[in-house]
Amino acid sequence: MEKYILITGASSGLGKAAAKKLAQEGYKIFAGVRRQEDKEQLESLNPNISAIFLDVTDDESVEKAFETVLQKTNEIFALINNAGIALGGPVEYLPVEMLQKQFDVNVFGAIRVAQRFLPLMNGKDNRILNISSMASYGVFPFVSPYCASKRALDMFFNSLLVECKNPNLKIISVKPGVVSTPIWNKSVDACEKTFENVSQDCRNKYEKELLFLAQNARNNTQKGLKAEDIANLISKILSSKNPKLSYNAGKDSVFARFLSYLPQRVCNFLVKNGLKYRLKK
Ligand SMILES: NC(=O)c1ccc[n+]([C@@H]2O[C@H](COP(=O)([O-])OP(=O)(O)OC[C@H]3O[C@@H](n4cnc5c(N)ncnc54)[C@H](OP(=O)(O)O)[C@@H]3O)[C@@H](O)[C@H]2O)c1
Repeated sequence: MEKYILITGASSGLGKAAAKKLAQEGYKIFAGVRRQEDKEQLESLNPNISAIFLDVTDDESVEKAFETVLQKTNEIFALINNAGIALGGPVEYLPVEMLQKQFDVNVFGAIRVAQRFLPLMNGKDNRILNISSMASYGVFPFVSPYCASKRALDMFFNSLLVECKNPNLKIISVKPGVVSTPIWNKSVDACEKTFENVSQDCRNKYEKELLFLAQNARNNTQKGLKAEDIANLISKILSSKNPKLSYNAGKDSVFARFLSYLPQRVCNFLVKNGLKYRLKK
């Protein structure tokens, strides 16, 4: 029997790698994109991939994507909530619109898509995989919008799991550490644009940290795991009979989990002094 999977944000990075890997394994993929060129590019990878236009922040777009899926099937085996952006900056100066944008994509977007597609997930085995992040442990300064969005994503979907009347629905959180994808440069570009016109006060206080973190983020495009590593993990989770509720990917993710177990005061001390030490080097 054909198994359909919907992946949001499949134009690049983890979503694209997952679409490619899962299509090779024989799954039928609905790959969410926002541009015609991404649609053509993805569909040229494998005949099992059908790219569909899907902006997770837009009700109408989600509705149209739903209608498109419905023309092919009335059951999807898995939804992979992957679409995401990463925004940051010092809490003291964060524009509220920036926070709203962060949550619109990473949190409300995932919920919007899940709510619409849940009626197609009433079979004997259906799965929602959320691409969360080690940021969900909340131990990283200056990226609080991203951390809070990933924590909120995990919290909302854990509640869904507990509330849901469908005993066959599995909801899994995947928490990668650093993966080399375009998200890092996109994130720094977006943050630099937002903070272009910030007050001198903000610059005086935080410039050193922000420049260091921006450079660090740009370096992450060359470091860490590969998108294919996460695609392999996703494939393993989808074929596992009894997947765990949460998976860490990468040593940095395991370390972040460990830090989060420490008393908050100890964790804060280590994080604050760790950053100070790295700034001095
Ligand atoms: N890379 C890492 O180190 C890392 C680590 C942990 C977790 N993650 C998570 O992994 C997921 C994928 O990120 P990535 O690293 O693969 O980055 P990426 O290459 O930038 O991919 C992000 C995807 O999300 C899509 N997207 C953004 N806004 C959207 C919207 N409003 N509606 C629909 N799609 C939207 C983008 O589409 P467009 O091209 O149309 O903008 C793109 O396809 C994200 O949730 C991210 O938080 C990444």
